[in-house]
Amino acid sequence: MNLIKQLKKILSKNKPATETGPLVMGFWADLPDDFIVLAPMADVTDNAYRKIIAKYSRTGQPGGGPDVFYTEFVACDGLAHPEGKKKLMHNFRYSEAERPIVAQIFSNKPANVEVAARLCRELGFDGVDLNMGCPDKNVCKQGAGCGMIKTPELLPDIIAAAKRGAGDLPVSVKTRVGWSQNEIETWIPAILDCDVAAIILHGRTRKVMSKIPANWDWIARAAEIVKASGKPTKFIGNGDVQSVAQGKDYCQRHGTDGAMIARAIFGNPWIFDTEKTEVTVKEKLEVMLEHTRVFIDELSQDKNFAVMKKHYKAYVAGFDGAKELRMKCMESNTYEEIESHVQDFLNTHRNIAHLKLPC
Ligand SMILES: Cc1cc2nc3c(=O)[nH]c(=O)nc-3n(C[C@H](O)[C@H](O)[C@H](O)COP(=O)(O)O)c2cc1C
Repeated sequence: MNLIKQLKKILSKNKPATETGPLVMGFWADLPDDFIVLAPMADVTDNAYRKIIAKYSRTGQPGGGPDVFYTEFVACDGLAHPEGKKKLMHNFRYSEAERPIVAQIFSNKPANVEVAARLCRELGFDGVDLNMGCPDKNVCKQGAGCGMIKTPELLPDIIAAAKRGAGDLPVSVKTRVGWSQNEIETWIPAILDCDVAAIILHGRTRKVMSKIPANWDWIARAAEIVKASGKPTKFIGNGDVQSVAQGKDYCQRHGTDGAMIARAIFGNPWIFDTEKTEVTVKEKLEVMLEHTRVFIDELSQDKNFAVMKKHYKAYVAGFDGAKELRMKCMESNTYEEIESHVQDFLNTHRNIAHLKLPC
């Protein structure tokens, strides 16, 4: 065997089985230190709530955030069929105020991942993220979401397909630390081998769902693995972050490039504005009504009004009389009913309306 052939053989041994394509960093390369990402949350961070967050967290202005938005996760297998696509397209609505915005998709079928990633590019998203962390039984049964952690051998083909579809958009992966135990020592290098722009790590296994606190020591160890690889891949920690200040502190203490915030956004669209620390009860309830109007305008053809009730639970809390008002909102099914309950409350609780709550 001549020298060139020998060299090629040695080099190919160190390569993943599939050539996954170039590492495109895109907008991820331009983010500030300790950046903060709004998490994808199905039926929560939809187009309506993201619009409200962008407005009230003063996205794009000094002290405003988040630095990155995500869509809810969308099934590539559905998007690959005309009927399924029609039903799912509302998940990809976004406004310019939400940039940079990443479209999150899931599947374990490379052909469908490629179709979906291409669609994301055509729709003008700034990035494509592959969900490899969803613990839902039906998703995992398809081998997608957390199911991907069980089949790391499929990873190169999935990421290569996403990159082919995404073209000049960066491709990232959001995942968990393992299926039933911590697998970061093998799982994170497997993802890194595929040259992705960013890895977002939720510090819990699939097995524990969200029942115990996220393990930031594991996130810190994964950050070391990413840094030691010498790749430009951004690494973002996720789990139990309650505020921008805490997210930035966690970045510093655990060596991550960014932090992602999910459940702490319930009832608090001001969370990413570092200059805003308080809202009055009146302000909060008025924004809740505005959020409801945006939901009706943007999504009432596609989603059930019941989706808003998770938000009502969170907006209407932490002040005298909240329980009664919350119960009325939970039993209501139209904007008019909700508005009338809020107006009654504000008229009959004038002292509470001006009470200040932390945000
Ligand atoms: C209601 C709900 C919906 C979620 N939907 C998604 C999703 O579509 N895609 C995803 O990657 N993670 C999803 N997650 C997980 C969150 O993005 C996040 O990883 C998790 O809640 C941990 O972060 P936290 O402790 O800040 O809440 C969802 C979580 C919740 C509570």
